[in-house]
Amino acid sequence: MQFKCAFGVISLCSALFLVGCNNDDSSVSQTPTVQEQKQKLQPIIIQGALPVESERMASKLENKTVETIGGWTFWKGTYNGYPMIISKTRMGMSNSAAATALAIERYKPIAIINQGTSGGHDPDLHVYDIVLGKYATNIGAFRTPKQPVGGGSNSLTWVEAFDVLPTDESDPEPIAIRKFEGDQELLVAAHKVRYDKGEVVEGTIGSADVWNNELDRIQFFHQRYGTSVEEMEAASVAQIASQLNVPFLGIRILSNNITNNGAYDPGTGEACQEYVLNVAEEYMKSKLPK
Ligand code: 5AD
Repeated sequence: MQFKCAFGVISLCSALFLVGCNNDDSSVSQTPTVQEQKQKLQPIIIQGALPVESERMASKLENKTVETIGGWTFWKGTYNGYPMIISKTRMGMSNSAAATALAIERYKPIAIINQGTSGGHDPDLHVYDIVLGKYATNIGAFRTPKQPVGGGSNSLTWVEAFDVLPTDESDPEPIAIRKFEGDQELLVAAHKVRYDKGEVVEGTIGSADVWNNELDRIQFFHQRYGTSVEEMEAASVAQIASQLNVPFLGIRILSNNITNNGAYDPGTGEACQEYVLNVAEEYMKSKLPK
């Protein structure tokens, strides 16, 4: 007890002494360098599901360390001086949700970009075009019509979207299409980046643990949900990021589009990574103190 009091007195004295020193020294400016300002930013996280959607970005990080938690890999480092984390989420809604929740808790990111390949729902979009997710929406959650035994099943009659994040949590059968909005500042950053392999457009990304190859089904999503592309992660990440208040944007390149015979091209994965690294840098630049 006595020691604590004595320590308290000593601490108070040193604090007063330091304050005094600071006042004497006010003429010396301690403006941080741009490099120091960059390092002070919280990291931006860029996710990719597959090796072909993440390893290119990881190879471009400087001062790199790697952390593996369960089945999820996180490469931490800097890109042109900005703190960045490349996260390999693995495929699908559950993997990407888990990787997102872990990363937000552990790394306190300034923002998250989920990027990678996708299949076109819009016949006007072509392989190598890029969709900026003004919206991301779950296209795998429904309440189906009732059918008796022997009544069969027809997914084109599944017109009621099931909202897995309803405002009214007491409603066990909430029916609504929920769209998660992409962050405006991330969208602004994305529009500033040059891309010469195709068009860059804003649109709606539809996500589910499904690879749709039925053209009537794809047209249904395009018309009813307004989907530009489909993939398996963005809406799930958006759902987690929105609940933890982290700015989010989905960015998807078309690797295939069966609505206009666009054959799968594996080179799209790397093209998207190159573009998104520039988007992340542009966003981080906008976060430096003015
Ligand atoms: N449908 C669904 N997922 C697709 N992907 C690329 N094209 C499609 C498509 N047409 C992405 C998913 C997943 C992996 C299979 O590739 O996001 O991670």
